[in-house]
Amino acid sequence: MQRYVPKKYDHLLSGALDGLSDNQLKAHFALYEGYINKINELEGRIKTFNTNNTDTINYRGWHMEQTSMLNGAVLHELYFGNLRKGEKEPKGVLKKMIDRDFGNIQNFIGHLKLVGKIAHGWSLAALNYRTGKINVYGLERHNLNVPMMVYPVLVLDVYEHAYMIDYGTDRKKYLDVFIANLSWKQVEERLEKALSIPFGNAVTT
Ligand SMILES: [Fe+2]
Repeated sequence: MQRYVPKKYDHLLSGALDGLSDNQLKAHFALYEGYINKINELEGRIKTFNTNNTDTINYRGWHMEQTSMLNGAVLHELYFGNLRKGEKEPKGVLKKMIDRDFGNIQNFIGHLKLVGKIAHGWSLAALNYRTGKINVYGLERHNLNVPMMVYPVLVLDVYEHAYMIDYGTDRKKYLDVFIANLSWKQVEERLEKALSIPFGNAVTT
């Protein structure tokens, strides 16, 4: 039985987003489904491995890939999940916290885009449970530079595969397109869920 089942994002097709074509999105969906298939396969292999076996070369490889495939699946779900056009600006508690932690929305978007420009994999904003503040983080790969004790609320995919079909190497244009299609409402809902979990230094004891 499969542990992970791919989610469907067909509602993003047929012009639902400005500036991201069906060809681009369908290729991206296929990549995401590949991560789901791979994590199912890997966790099956890991679970059935005899831990008395001293030859752990394959076992080690599966574990290194496990976090890559799992994070690849989760990050793509968070990315597709925060796409929806027509929401121009953050509201409510999200706006309040962005203003508090970044001064204003323009500065926050500036950090998101700059991290999106310099990182190879992901730019994300997350609630940091140690401080109760929102931080922007850059991930070189799905499982590299991943922060602990944070709750991702906004996820931006900056791998070339996210925009190459539509924009070639023009990542700057893609970053603008992403912000124009960002669902601030979804980000706010995630933040509200994150805030409902008690935080503070105690979480790491
Ligand atoms: Fe991607």
